[in-house]
Amino acid sequence: MPLVTSTEMFKKAYNGGYAVGAFNVNNMEIIQGITEACYEENAPVILQVSKGARAYANSKYLVNLVKSALECYPELEVCLHLDHGSDFDICKACVDDGFTSVMIDASSKPFEENIEVTKKVVEYAHAHGAVVEAELGTLAGVEDDVKVSAEDSSYTRPDDVEEFVKATGCDSLAIAIGTSHGAYKFKPEQCTRDENGILVPPPLRFDILDEVVKRLPGFPIVLHGSSSVPQEWVKIINENGGKMPDAVGVPEAQLREAAKSAVCKINIDSDIRLVMTGSIRQFYNEHPDKFDPREYLKPARANIKEMVRHKLVDVLGCAGKNHYHD
Ligand code: G3H
Ligand code: 13P
Ligand code: ZN
Repeated sequence: MPLVTSTEMFKKAYNGGYAVGAFNVNNMEIIQGITEACYEENAPVILQVSKGARAYANSKYLVNLVKSALECYPELEVCLHLDHGSDFDICKACVDDGFTSVMIDASSKPFEENIEVTKKVVEYAHAHGAVVEAELGTLAGVEDDVKVSAEDSSYTRPDDVEEFVKATGCDSLAIAIGTSHGAYKFKPEQCTRDENGILVPPPLRFDILDEVVKRLPGFPIVLHGSSSVPQEWVKIINENGGKMPDAVGVPEAQLREAAKSAVCKINIDSDIRLVMTGSIRQFYNEHPDKFDPREYLKPARANIKEMVRHKLVDVLGCAGKNHYHD
């Protein structure tokens, strides 16, 4: 099937008590790993491209790689989404390039300005058959060249959401309830340690999510910054020459809980980066004589596929929700 918007995906996810995975893509191997897992697990998927990914790979390469994945798996339900669009122009460029969904992230701007630019993007996107994700509240962490410190991050104010959605006409809303971007989501001093010395982060603010849902019944909510930073991969990286002390993510059990509610889209990027980096470091360490990129990208791709499969089945709950094959 051709690329689709997230409209039907979200309706089914909301009513079915699961979330669709939104995975960031930057190259062929990542796209292959994700789409193979989604095909095998009969799951819908959102493939998302950041401003940085567009600059790295060229938007056209990424659009065509995603289209190639659809040629390989014609049944696959795929939405192609711009992640963290910073202004109207980049959103317009992506809609013009064939993206079926864009995010306008004006969450760092004053409320009225956020409304104004989001509304403009919605008008353009809707007129061209695409949908729009917007954001209220600020996540901590790093996205493209924007770095938000934990002190400057702010939770979404439930009292704002109704007015914002009504005024902008956006199709989904990203909210800040304690997730953050990157592999260092929480400072060690914000966490406790379990019996193995592993950092345990503070719980997500489900109370804020509940208040948002009360004010926007039936409306799809998005969680950014939702990588879990699997400790087994942090260990592989550190045992093979890396240095990632105290990397910590959002516990998967909390994401599973969120996926059962109005949260219809869960963003995962850092976990892919960790798996890819760990796989390549490990390969180099074990085979110092090898130099064919295909040899080290092959296990990286296979490990991304298995990590994504685990997310679909055990975290998002979206495995088996489509029927591509028996
Ligand atoms: O939220 C940001 C995503 O992880 C994308 O990261 O901007 O480095 O491509 P990037
Ligand atoms: P992570 O850094 O937790 O993977 O978040 C990704 C994200 O929110 C992309 O928009
Ligand atoms: Zn994000």
